[in-house]
Amino acid sequence: MKKLSARRRHPLAALVVLLFALAVTGGLYAAFAPADKAQADDTAQSLAIKEGKKLFAVGCASCHGTGGQGTSDGPSLVGVGAAAVDFQVATGRMPAQQPGAQVPRKKNIYSQAEIDQLAAYVASLGAGPSVPGKEQYSKDGADIAKGGELFRTNCAQCHNFTGKGGALTNGKFAPALDGVDPKHIYEAMETGPQNMPSFGDGSLSQSNKKDIVAYLGEVNGDKTASPGGMELGGLGPVSEGLFGYIFGLGALVAVAIWVAARTAKAKKS
Ligand code: HEC
Ligand code: HEC
Repeated sequence: MKKLSARRRHPLAALVVLLFALAVTGGLYAAFAPADKAQADDTAQSLAIKEGKKLFAVGCASCHGTGGQGTSDGPSLVGVGAAAVDFQVATGRMPAQQPGAQVPRKKNIYSQAEIDQLAAYVASLGAGPSVPGKEQYSKDGADIAKGGELFRTNCAQCHNFTGKGGALTNGKFAPALDGVDPKHIYEAMETGPQNMPSFGDGSLSQSNKKDIVAYLGEVNGDKTASPGGMELGGLGPVSEGLFGYIFGLGALVAVAIWVAARTAKAKKS
């Protein structure tokens, strides 16, 4: 007892206790600290791939092959990227059902979490465009006028002036773009589904794509956005010209008849 208290009073005792305490805390921390964040992400990712692979085997492999290498019923998915899966499955195009000229949009049967897993699995087969982040397709900082210009040069030949859609050859069609989720518009440009060309960052930069998404949101989302009043179907100069022709000219003819009738009446009396 006497020996211990003598040691406690030793000038180095405090230092020893401090070092000991530090070592214990450090050791405890190392033992219980959450695993490295990157490592945690890694395992979440490989878990998603594993789950995605299971979903794929059940819902997709019959046409796309067990390893996504493609069969006579569906193309190879190696290198199409997560964006293609997110677009195709979230818009209900995949899994495809009946054969036809074009796989149509329909009710989506997977949850977003399952779609993410399918996308992770397909992305693991080969590098391709990834699912865009919110800041890439949000309206913030987008130039709507520029988007309209870009849309008219790159998209209107198939989708019509304000995205009302149109027919293509052999029973294929470019769908109307109103009501399409901004994320899916972005992904469609990235991946070019079916007869649509893909617009990689080389042909339409990320900010160009953002402008186009904002333009479509403007013309299709907000029905009060038509500055001249009624939008006349938004089909462009032909329908608007025809409208002017029939109603404008019709009104002129009606006025002329009315004036003539009145003059005739005035002459009679
Ligand atoms: C009945 C057969 C069938 C099933 C089932 C099916 N697909 Fe497809 N898939 C196709 C066909 C055919 C195409 C090509 C469509 C085209 O381009 O005309 C395609 C295209 C795709 C594309 C676009 C590829 C590209 O080049 O951009 C993706 C991605 C895709 N499928 C994912 C899936 C996923 C994921 C599933 C399961 C949830 C699935 N498919 C189920 C037949 C199928
Ligand atoms: C050569 C004609 C063509 C051009 C040019 C074109 N598209 Fe498409 N687009 C299509 C076709 C065909 C589809 C239908 C594909 C499908 O159903 O898988 C489509 C589908 C889409 C979809 C999916 C709509 C939905 O209902 O899910 C979006 C969004 C889209 N296009 C946007 C654009 C934008 C934006 C541009 C210009 C940057 C563009 N497209 C240029 C032909 C075209």
